[in-house]
Amino acid sequence: MAAPAPALDPGNDPSFAELLAQRPQLTRHAHDGLVMEDVPLARIAEVVGTPTWVYSAGTLRRRARALRAALADAGLTATVHFATKANDNLSVLALLGREGLGADVVSEGELRGARAAGIPASAIVFSGVGKSEREIRLALAEGIMQINAESIEEIDMISAIAAGMGRIAPVAIRVNPDVDAKTHAKITTGRSENKFGVAYDDALTLYARMAKLPGIRPIGIATHIGSQITIGMGAYRAAYARLAELVRAIRAQGLPIERVDCGGGLGIAYRDEIAPAPAALAGAIKAELGALGLPVMLEPGRWIAGPAGVLLSRVILQKQGTARRFVVLDAAMNDLLRPAMYDSWHGILPVSPAALVAPLAPADVVGPVCESSDCFTRDRALPDLPPGALVALLDTGAYGATMSSTYNARPLAAEVLVDGARFAVVRDRQSYEALHAGQRVPEWLME
Ligand code: LLP
Repeated sequence: MAAPAPALDPGNDPSFAELLAQRPQLTRHAHDGLVMEDVPLARIAEVVGTPTWVYSAGTLRRRARALRAALADAGLTATVHFATKANDNLSVLALLGREGLGADVVSEGELRGARAAGIPASAIVFSGVGKSEREIRLALAEGIMQINAESIEEIDMISAIAAGMGRIAPVAIRVNPDVDAKTHAKITTGRSENKFGVAYDDALTLYARMAKLPGIRPIGIATHIGSQITIGMGAYRAAYARLAELVRAIRAQGLPIERVDCGGGLGIAYRDEIAPAPAALAGAIKAELGALGLPVMLEPGRWIAGPAGVLLSRVILQKQGTARRFVVLDAAMNDLLRPAMYDSWHGILPVSPAALVAPLAPADVVGPVCESSDCFTRDRALPDLPPGALVALLDTGAYGATMSSTYNARPLAAEVLVDGARFAVVRDRQSYEALHAGQRVPEWLME
């Protein structure tokens, strides 16, 4: 006998109306249901199919402008370099490039993508704990703005490669400030036990060493303390204060320094988090680093792209388990990995006008992949979602498509950019031919 349905306890979950109020790019229409900018999501599903990532161009622009304006309003000379790991779709990069953003890349693929999208190498910073010789060569050949070095071993390697190429590499040292950003353990980076950056106490010696190397021009220091930081500005201020102290020590030794890279990490409100405003970050930078009179750089990813995207998915079926209702989507953990990997919470909105106002009951929303962790949420207050119903998984514009895989031989989902009343497919859904392209069965196996 089926157990009675559990009572509905939305806990900290915002209502549909509250989710919509915070996301001006999404509105509810009596006839069209959920609409992004001026395009009904149901229309995109009809034309492009599902699952599909849908990005709002207006939101990307608005957020890029808000961030730049906050820095300018604080009186800072600053450049913003979008962390392309958050969203490397070429149209998204091209749009942000046209807004005056540079890029923060961590691989040859990301560097090539940023360049292909029209972002000049002189606005690209190369971060990451392990850059290959080939990647360093390419970065130098392109004339990259800055390489953030993370170890003495890497500094020596960059110098040797640059000297061999007859070039001087512009290098900043990424310093690990050993502050606790109190974010999810899997996305904290600024503690001494993390693999990132050089130890704070070694940074000055390393900087002085860089100044003596033939292939390197030391140009600055950098830090990045973690991602999805929502605890206010305390951890940032602590990290920036340590950077300021280091800049003073560098100058005291008569060494040149041209800029400070403040990293990314600004969090967003997925559920009920209090997300800091860009003005607060700009204020923290100004307070701790302003007196140095140096240009600063930021490398945000999530704050710009996260709220701009939804994952549009269709219900395959609704399954009544012994004690729970399961809504099985055609999107899965191979598309959106964040809930499985970080237990992250994403708003889920029904798309049809009727479902947006229908009575609610708890449901687990899952994908079809053969893993128990292929579960987007448990006990979420949702209406009846019969086969064919559409839902939008919110705030998936950052670390959504970029973290997808083809696990369970599921092709990569399509990507769409909405701009006002227009929309365009900016990445085709992967075909089954493409899914297996490049694989070969050796003849001797078939003999
Ligand atoms: N700069 C560096 C050196 C980074 O490592 C990162 C992110 C960023 C900038 C951009 O951080 P953001 O502004 O986006 O917080 N996959 C995880 C997030 C991993 C972030 C890794 N580094 C997630 O889905 O939450």
